[in-house]
Amino acid sequence: MKVSVVGLGYIGLPTSLTMACAGLEVVGIDYNKELVKSLNEGKVTFEEKGLRELFDEAIKTKNIKFVSEYQKSDIYIVSVPTPYDKFSKKIDCSYVVNAIKEVLKICDDETIVVIESTVSPGTIEKEIKPLINKKVYLAHAPERIIPGNMMYELKHNSRTIGADNKEIGEKIANIYRKTTDGEVIVTDIKTAEMTKVVENTFRAVNIALSNELAKICSHDNMDVYEIIKICNMHPRVNLLNPGPGVGGHCISVDPWFLVGDYPMLTKVIGAAMKVNDSMPSFVLKRISKIMEENGLSDYKRVGLYGLTYKENVDDFRESPTLQLLESQKDHLAEGLKVYDPYIKKDVIKNQYHDLDEFLNSVDLVVIMVKHDEIKNNWDKIKNKIIFDTQNIFNGEKIYHL
Ligand SMILES: NC(=O)c1ccc[n+]([C@@H]2O[C@H](COP(=O)([O-])OP(=O)(O)OC[C@H]3O[C@@H](n4cnc5c(N)ncnc54)[C@H](O)[C@@H]3O)[C@@H](O)[C@H]2O)c1
Repeated sequence: MKVSVVGLGYIGLPTSLTMACAGLEVVGIDYNKELVKSLNEGKVTFEEKGLRELFDEAIKTKNIKFVSEYQKSDIYIVSVPTPYDKFSKKIDCSYVVNAIKEVLKICDDETIVVIESTVSPGTIEKEIKPLINKKVYLAHAPERIIPGNMMYELKHNSRTIGADNKEIGEKIANIYRKTTDGEVIVTDIKTAEMTKVVENTFRAVNIALSNELAKICSHDNMDVYEIIKICNMHPRVNLLNPGPGVGGHCISVDPWFLVGDYPMLTKVIGAAMKVNDSMPSFVLKRISKIMEENGLSDYKRVGLYGLTYKENVDDFRESPTLQLLESQKDHLAEGLKVYDPYIKKDVIKNQYHDLDEFLNSVDLVVIMVKHDEIKNNWDKIKNKIIFDTQNIFNGEKIYHL
């Protein structure tokens, strides 16, 4: 059975490799020719623990090839981006639509098309089904893996398969059972679409609660971390950690789909997303206050540590640091310096690529991301003024959210 994985990004690449290692004949398709070239030269295209090993193992099986032209296959797995429209908050499913149109140009009847991309409930019915001009079966298999622990989660997470035809659902479930030892559940398409969006909404709303608590505590001089620690000793309370904002392409995006589609029914979700989105500006205000307290007036002496949206990964899409830099409407804080060990290219102004150089150029270090590197370099920053938005260090002169 030949499986084509369309879109070889953070989700598609590890998915295609895992499938090849499970014994399936896999074609990885991406319209980005440079990316395909890199993969064919044996280069992995992003940093992720265990990805290099999985890549080498998959290549050894000879079950996989990477191409930019669509090829005939029995099954297509579509893992292309699904952003949202910043104005309407609705899903932008144009990438999925375009990928499906390409598949339909070449596929035969009886082909199965599985959409792994996250989509809002009803998207497949409303946007994809009308495109279908052949006897093609549609299914949805939303992906749940977390960057930083993708390899483990690909092999152990449970999966949801949505299909309106039970037999097709079971066929797809059996393929995923080859790659994961987690439970694989078959349901209908709309339910599967909704579960994925709800999972990320659950996370977003809970993070927002902690972020709001951080603001209340900061306003009235209480220690939010001590409060959360004590509250979590209650048997039915499990507060998450507050942070400088929410980034990436899942938790900061997917809940907006519901707000866009059900604006009158999403008061809690909409408010939660706004709280999370307000955190980078809140951090910036705190930076100004900390500077004032310490007699600093030059933003050029302030450094943001971390540019990615979470620790130990190289994905900086929609990251809190980027949001913070974009939120300086008056350009007051324009000189802020930035460093991230995972971002090797220059992607923003005042970016450093060496930790020592970065630290030598600033007096106040704002820890935006808890990369292992900074945890292991306490000695290098201990003499700086530290604003630790991730609560990894404690002690006098260390500011927290
Ligand atoms: N990144 C995550 O952590 C994560 C986790 C769970 C679910 N998801 C979901 O998975 C989907 C993919 O996300 P991602 O992070 O892998 O995206 P990505 O941007 O890393 O990769 C998408 C890839 O698709 C390619 N592409 C786009 N349109 C194409 C087309 N028509 N034909 C061929 N290739 C095409 C792009 O060139 C790119 O390489 C999204 O819906 C996302 O919400 C992502």
